Amino acid sequence: MGPNPRVSEDKNYIETLKKKISRLRKEKHAVIIAHNYERPEIQEIADIRGDSLELSRAVTRVKAKVVVFCGVHFMAETASILNPDKKILLPVKEAGCPMADMITLPKLRDLKKLYPGVPVVCYVNSSAAVKGESDICCTSSNAVEVVDSLSSREVIFVPDQNLGTYIQSKLRQKKIILWEGFCPTHMRISEDEILTAKKQHPKAKFIAHPECPQRLLGHADYIGSTSGMLAYVQHSNGNEFIVGTELGMIYRLQQENPGKKFYCPSEHFLCADMKLTTLGWLAHSLENGVFEVKVSEPVRKKARRSLDRMLAVGSKKSGRNA
Ligand code: 13P
Ligand code: SF4
Repeated sequence: MGPNPRVSEDKNYIETLKKKISRLRKEKHAVIIAHNYERPEIQEIADIRGDSLELSRAVTRVKAKVVVFCGVHFMAETASILNPDKKILLPVKEAGCPMADMITLPKLRDLKKLYPGVPVVCYVNSSAAVKGESDICCTSSNAVEVVDSLSSREVIFVPDQNLGTYIQSKLRQKKIILWEGFCPTHMRISEDEILTAKKQHPKAKFIAHPECPQRLLGHADYIGSTSGMLAYVQHSNGNEFIVGTELGMIYRLQQENPGKKFYCPSEHFLCADMKLTTLGWLAHSLENGVFEVKVSEPVRKKARRSLDRMLAVGSKKSGRNA
């Protein structure tokens, strides 16, 4: 019986867990991948980390038969859709995405009935069933290019109203039909918090994720996915940045840019689901081969089509200047 993954993690315990994870990773021929919002200790131990699109692509390239996906359910599900022959594990089975749950298959079918013939683009933060019912998928790093690639002027976009509004601002010639979903982490940040951070750090550039509402994006110097932010910061001659996304991002930004300063504008920039994965749960997952995420073959095939269409469009850009 190993240590209980739920108990608090003191220093010795952390070292024991890290050794255990390294041993199990070898023994099970597993690869550990982690989203940029994961806890620092999870990002540190991961073999690969990145934004949603990078991770989807990375899983298709890894040779390992077992992939432990430190992220939320839709990400592991996407990995499984693209790699049905691999065993995809989500260390905490309850780690979900509240925004992904805001659109369901019946709701999407009802919406499509209101706009017959209009193509549907779904954000990758959605279930396999919703992906299967959509024409094409997108992530925050290729959303504008994906919508732009469609010949139709009208496009249904689900579930993120904020990302949809951002796309609309970039593609004036299109008419984006929005769904009222949102990311609670990005939605609850107030404009005042951003203005206060800007006053406190007048030289800092404000970099924002397109899941932020328009009231925040209007103040941004750069808008892009989590990896788009990394690239922007690396190439920027600025030295200070206010980070408009989940605070796990600051760990990676700081680590890769030790000479630069990063400020979190709000203590509310926290995704509770992304923080569920601890070293304890990661070790538990490797040791017991849990929790496997798998999609039924008929749904997988349909969802795969919309992901393949997205991957064919590619991600020439990770973000855009505001
Ligand atoms: P990206 O890493 O693709 O920017 O996505 C952010 C996100 O909210 C994932 O849930
Ligand atoms: Fe979902 Fe928002 Fe958390 Fe990303 S940050 S997983 S969109 S709730």
